[in-house]
Amino acid sequence: MGSLNINGRAVAVQAEPDMPLLWVLRCDLGMTGTKFGCGVGICGACTIHLDGKAGLACQTPMSSLHSQKIVTIEGVQGAEAQALKAAWIDLDVVQCGYCQSAQLMAACALLKQKPNPTDADIDAAMSNIVCRCGTYPRVRAAIHQAAAKRRPV
Ligand code: FES
Ligand code: FES
Repeated sequence: MGSLNINGRAVAVQAEPDMPLLWVLRCDLGMTGTKFGCGVGICGACTIHLDGKAGLACQTPMSSLHSQKIVTIEGVQGAEAQALKAAWIDLDVVQCGYCQSAQLMAACALLKQKPNPTDADIDAAMSNIVCRCGTYPRVRAAIHQAAAKRRPV
């Protein structure tokens, strides 16, 4: 039995050391907002925040987690997340939705690091998240819109 810091709460969990965090989130804790795509670190669907940086839950074994702050799509908050969610709705970014939790989590981590990202910054931060619906242009536009809303006038 151990404890994880998830979305600002201490959560008791019981899992083998090599169990990926993604399984614990989805199967043990019922937090299915973080998606399972490939399970091998190539689709990005399982993107979460670990101490404020984007990370892959399928590539994060329980043994690697100690006091890190884990944030998932269910608990992501703050000005960047708010601006991004508003831009996502405004520009109608979502198609099937499967990759979109990950897109938002990666975009949020990017804006925290780089409040005014260039296209190249966005491509570098987002390119490992596969969207089979091809929403990439709208994702990029929404990140720019959210960044612009956050800039002082
Ligand atoms: S499910 Fe984690 S990268 Fe694909
Ligand atoms: S919106 Fe369908 S996979 Fe990205």
